[in-house]
Amino acid sequence: MNHLFESFAIKGLELKNRVVMPPMCQYSVHNRDGKATDWHFVHYVSRAIGGAGLIIIEMTDVEPDGRISDFDLGLWSDEHISALARIVEACHQYGAKVGIQIGHAGRKAEDAQVPVAPSAVPFSERYKTPRELTTDEVKEMVEKFRLAVRRAVRAGMDTVELHGAHGYLIHQFHSPLTNRRRDEYGQELTRFGKEVIQAAKSEMPSDMPLLMRISAQEYVDGGYGIQESIEFSKVYQSAGVDMFHISSGGEGPIGSRGRPGTHAAYQLPLARAIKRALQTPVIAVGSLDDPILANAVIGNEEADLVAVGRGMLRNPHWALEASARLGKEMAVPKQYASAFPR
Ligand SMILES: Cc1cc2nc3c(=O)[nH]c(=O)nc-3n(C[C@H](O)[C@H](O)[C@H](O)COP(=O)(O)O)c2cc1C
Repeated sequence: MNHLFESFAIKGLELKNRVVMPPMCQYSVHNRDGKATDWHFVHYVSRAIGGAGLIIIEMTDVEPDGRISDFDLGLWSDEHISALARIVEACHQYGAKVGIQIGHAGRKAEDAQVPVAPSAVPFSERYKTPRELTTDEVKEMVEKFRLAVRRAVRAGMDTVELHGAHGYLIHQFHSPLTNRRRDEYGQELTRFGKEVIQAAKSEMPSDMPLLMRISAQEYVDGGYGIQESIEFSKVYQSAGVDMFHISSGGEGPIGSRGRPGTHAAYQLPLARAIKRALQTPVIAVGSLDDPILANAVIGNEEADLVAVGRGMLRNPHWALEASARLGKEMAVPKQYASAFPR
């Protein structure tokens, strides 16, 4: 039977356990330059010391105006590579593998003077109205994703995750609520995502898996649900996605159906549905920080990996503690051995 603290492999990516630190923006860049700082180094390396099998570095943007805020990480220049490479190297020393989430905030780029988007539809009254990208600009955007992925590979990443969730640019293209274009990118809602996936894959070694985070359900009136997500995920799977990371929401002001639930495992039914329908590995996320619950998700084969976000913000050693609680003690750095008696 599968266990949270057993290894997992997909293509050439071998993880020592099935615990993932999901991407979480730190808004901690100095000078608005997109470069990782000492905060990022300490933050990610602490979770590697704390036993996470896979660490996915926060949303990192393909152009300055693709940032949620000017304090987000970027990969629009070769100058961003070295600080990320330093983090990857240090995490590797503690046995963690590292990925990075590549994205663009589109109409949710809050500090952009004029954000860009598939269509000129604002996120809410509090947000700026975005400018619709021209068809040529959409093609250029695909190239920006390609170059960012190239730099991620050069930084030594073990995997790349495309941010197709939470109402950011890729999500904006595949949602009928936000994509009202008449060109080929509007006639085929998944076209932009598909081209980004193909561009990413063309830059990645053939044995490196490509991950994609999606919102499998929208929470506004007229939004899509799990059936539509299964359909667009199949397109993305054929285009080259090797594993999906299943989240939800983020597409617009909160509608009558309300926020996503906050109960334990609130997104797990979505992850399970995508896993079954596509016969694909998935990462489940969302209030899964009780170790017994996280292990049950794996044991019951509802997901292949479990991501613990806020739980790891509270406790960088979440994985070490969970392994002890589940009776599958992991190796502990010798400096901390006395805190985890065997
Ligand atoms: C501070 C913070 C920043 C986040 N930033 C991102 C991000 O950069 N990309 C992303 O896809 N999700 C982001 N998320 C969502 C988390 O990855 C995760 O899906 C969410 O917190 C639910 O998991 P949890 O219940 O284990 O925290 C963020 C969440 C938090 C708390």
